[in-house]
Amino acid sequence: MSPSTPLLRGVNLTEIESLALSSQLNMADGHARQELTKSQRSIVDELPDLFAKAAAQPVDDLEREAHRAYLHLLHQHSYPTRPGGVLTCYSSSVAMEILARSLVPAGGGPVALVHPTFDNIPDLLRGNGLRLLPVEEDVLHEGSVSAAVPEGVRCLFITTPNNPTGRVLAEQRLAAIAAECAARDVVLALDTSFRGFDTRSHYDHYTVLRDSGCRWVVIEDTGKLWATLDLKVGLLASSDHVGLPLAKIHSDILLGVSPFVLVLVTRFAEDAAAGGLADLHRFIADNRALVRATLADVPDLAFPDGDARVSVERVDLGERRCLDVWTRLRQSGIYVLPCSQFHWADPARGDHSLRIALARVPGALEAAVRALRAVLLSP
Ligand SMILES: Cc1ncc(COP(=O)(O)O)c(C=O)c1O
Repeated sequence: MSPSTPLLRGVNLTEIESLALSSQLNMADGHARQELTKSQRSIVDELPDLFAKAAAQPVDDLEREAHRAYLHLLHQHSYPTRPGGVLTCYSSSVAMEILARSLVPAGGGPVALVHPTFDNIPDLLRGNGLRLLPVEEDVLHEGSVSAAVPEGVRCLFITTPNNPTGRVLAEQRLAAIAAECAARDVVLALDTSFRGFDTRSHYDHYTVLRDSGCRWVVIEDTGKLWATLDLKVGLLASSDHVGLPLAKIHSDILLGVSPFVLVLVTRFAEDAAAGGLADLHRFIADNRALVRATLADVPDLAFPDGDARVSVERVDLGERRCLDVWTRLRQSGIYVLPCSQFHWADPARGDHSLRIALARVPGALEAAVRALRAVLLSP
């Protein structure tokens, strides 16, 4: 392991993101901060009616409607509909905390986790005392399936599409990994928070998982797609015989999410199904093209995730160190994310890349990327 930039040690990505929250040019966090579309604005105009609906209708019905609208939007038609099959949480991090806590009493070996990935996933697992084993993306996605499921682990955790790389687990590969997990009784856990952006992750994961016979958990997240001011839910779906105390731990933490948020999620999902999702995909693709075009003539720079469709873009800075570039941008009130912490098992491997958020107003994104260009071109 090579030495990482010392000033970034011990600081997590969320702490860096929170420095940017009040900035006009916040390209740091992966939350959705673009303008509402016309049809989304009309949903916001209906909020008093939606509030009344939320207050009047049984919460079970609202929860079922929200699950159905969101998961059907993303073609996840075979999600579990049994009681408790999908637990609704305030956010995907809460779902993650529940999963992490549930894995502790099961005992056994470490949790294998995709490397790199968003650092709150390893932080929540480690925070519950679990030992982690990194599995490189290439090992997960290609080659021997037994290497993708290391010997002796109790759980394999994969973020797909991954943050920050955007890499998507293909259907055949998920089937092969799930079969391996079934044969070795390893819990297979997926975080699909970014799947809304990438149709390649819209094959029905629940059919694949169910057919494999493995024990599985999926964390879904409505929070990355729409600029709903962080009104969102995380969903914790699990197989029939998952053997983890998920429902009990969920009840230790919450009674339920706000019915108002459930109604809002349902309405935004319906709007997305009626064309909004395709518009969003175009919007993100345009913003990605803007970033790449603005930085195209900067020497010693690359976009390592050529194929990515998620709402973030990594930039490989070549010889430059991300902390130096980040510090100079910050002096002008512009924020991006250094990538060191995504490499949770070896931060130095991220010391030469940045992540730029794309779910932003194009004018602000352009201003920020122009400033980045100027920093990169100046000595
Ligand atoms: C892959 C992934 N999962 C989960 C989360 C946590 O989301 P939240 O902060 O809404 O709980 C993030 C945050 O960016 C993420 O990137």
